[in-house]
Amino acid sequence: MNFELTKLSLTQAASQKCDLLVVLVPEGIKPGKDAVSAVMAQALKSGDLEYKAGKNLQIYASPLIAARRTILVGCGDGNARSVRQACAALAAALKGPSIKKAVLVFAGKATGEAVAAAVQCVAEAAYVYRTTKTKGEAPALARVVIGVEDAAAVKAAFTTATAIAEGVAFAREWANRPANHATPTLLAQAAKGLAKGGITCKVHGPAEVERLGMGAFMAVAQGSEQPLRLIELRYNGAAKSEAPVVLVGKGITFDTGGISLKPAAEMDEMKFDMGGAASVLGVFNALVHLKPAVNVVGLIPACENMPDGKAIKPGDVVTSMNGQTIEILNTDAEGRLVLCDALTYAARFKPRAMVDIATLTGACVIALGNQRSGLFSSNEQLAARLQSAGDAAQDLCWRMPLDDEYGEGLRSNFADVANVAGRAGGAITAAKFLQRFTGDIPWAHLDIAGTAWKSGAAKGATGRPVGLLIHYLLGEVGVAAPTRKSTRVAKKVTGAATTAAKSAPKVAKTAERAPRVARKMV
Ligand code: BES
Ligand code: MN
Ligand code: ZN
Repeated sequence: MNFELTKLSLTQAASQKCDLLVVLVPEGIKPGKDAVSAVMAQALKSGDLEYKAGKNLQIYASPLIAARRTILVGCGDGNARSVRQACAALAAALKGPSIKKAVLVFAGKATGEAVAAAVQCVAEAAYVYRTTKTKGEAPALARVVIGVEDAAAVKAAFTTATAIAEGVAFAREWANRPANHATPTLLAQAAKGLAKGGITCKVHGPAEVERLGMGAFMAVAQGSEQPLRLIELRYNGAAKSEAPVVLVGKGITFDTGGISLKPAAEMDEMKFDMGGAASVLGVFNALVHLKPAVNVVGLIPACENMPDGKAIKPGDVVTSMNGQTIEILNTDAEGRLVLCDALTYAARFKPRAMVDIATLTGACVIALGNQRSGLFSSNEQLAARLQSAGDAAQDLCWRMPLDDEYGEGLRSNFADVANVAGRAGGAITAAKFLQRFTGDIPWAHLDIAGTAWKSGAAKGATGRPVGLLIHYLLGEVGVAAPTRKSTRVAKKVTGAATTAAKSAPKVAKTAERAPRVARKMV
């Protein structure tokens, strides 16, 4: 889809030739003397149109408006959230088979965040999965013009938003593809396809992964006919000497649970278990367009988790890349097994920070539902940066605790660590398992089990958290790396910092650039 940003008054909007004109109407708007304003004022007065976000009124073939169809839509206070609601209400109209060109005009002042919300929401509405369907039309919408009073003021936000929209669509597409159309090999090919414009991609197969000693990753893959792939993407936007951010995406292309087999109901949704990997691919897709001055490494351990004569069995002990032995008490807790070796491997890039993204636990869905991703981090600055990136992108997450006591349930009588603890606090114990493989590198874990896809009638991938990650990476440009703390300090800070993260985003922003203040706060 082609987005365009332009300065547009309501008078000019009325003369725009297009299939659909959307007028975003915020509270307290003072209608002018143009044709659109006249209709708007009349509709508001009569109560046929309301300011409430999403309330809308359609007009067809008005002699005073060049657009074939016009929709006036309330957007409440005009902030990002309300604009999102307003655009979401128009999803069906935007998908119409005869809507090729749409013009969205902000009747009031438009902030960068509001413009970004509009771009993302329109792109989201227009995406239709078609890859494995023989019928079903592509959405007609090819051109979207965003009209605002002051285009220069929102240009940067607009550019970021269009890149995110592409990244999100790419992530959705790969996550939506069924497991037989998105094998580890095909996922690696998709990653190779991104290798252009400053991006390189290396793919490691089973032999190299064995040479690296990734015993935990290999253990998960051994039950599948599909060979594993370790995908390594690199984007160098800054000097070679600059430490990169490493993103690690869980790439289980299908999770049956293995010998600890999952129940049949909704098992199809486990094709989305590579949502973390898809988000990493989406981020690299967006980086090509944005070219920020940061270095980024993307790592994707990709394989299937299958039951088989060769599959791992509950009780099996395997040796991870960093030498720790792991007792696999439940073969369905496979995500942490592939991630722990990828996190060990990540250390060789001497990262300024590493962030893993994973559809890791059903427990996280129970804890946070489908609105916010779970955020776990051993580093206060990193946590604050990710939290505010999520706020800025409207791709929200929520800080979860990492107290060491949570890790106690992972004790094993037969190995250094078990891959599961009890049912209680399952999202946290999974994070504690991962933390054992991060050393003193600033690390964060995003559990996207509840946010990477939707179930039910709207079943499909969301492309989250591409928006959060892109905003985070853009925020890293020209900013000092998060400071490493000794484990003792980090431990002390953890509990109280959870409270800090719950307060307003403003607090998080302060913490972002002023670590001393953040520490005092605690
Ligand atoms: N991929 C699942 C997590 C998941 C489950 C995400 C349902 C979204 C919806 C993961 O591999 C898994 O199976 N986790 C287990 C862990 C348990 C065995 C400790 C879970 O959450 O049940
Ligand atoms: Mn599983
Ligand atoms: Zn899984």
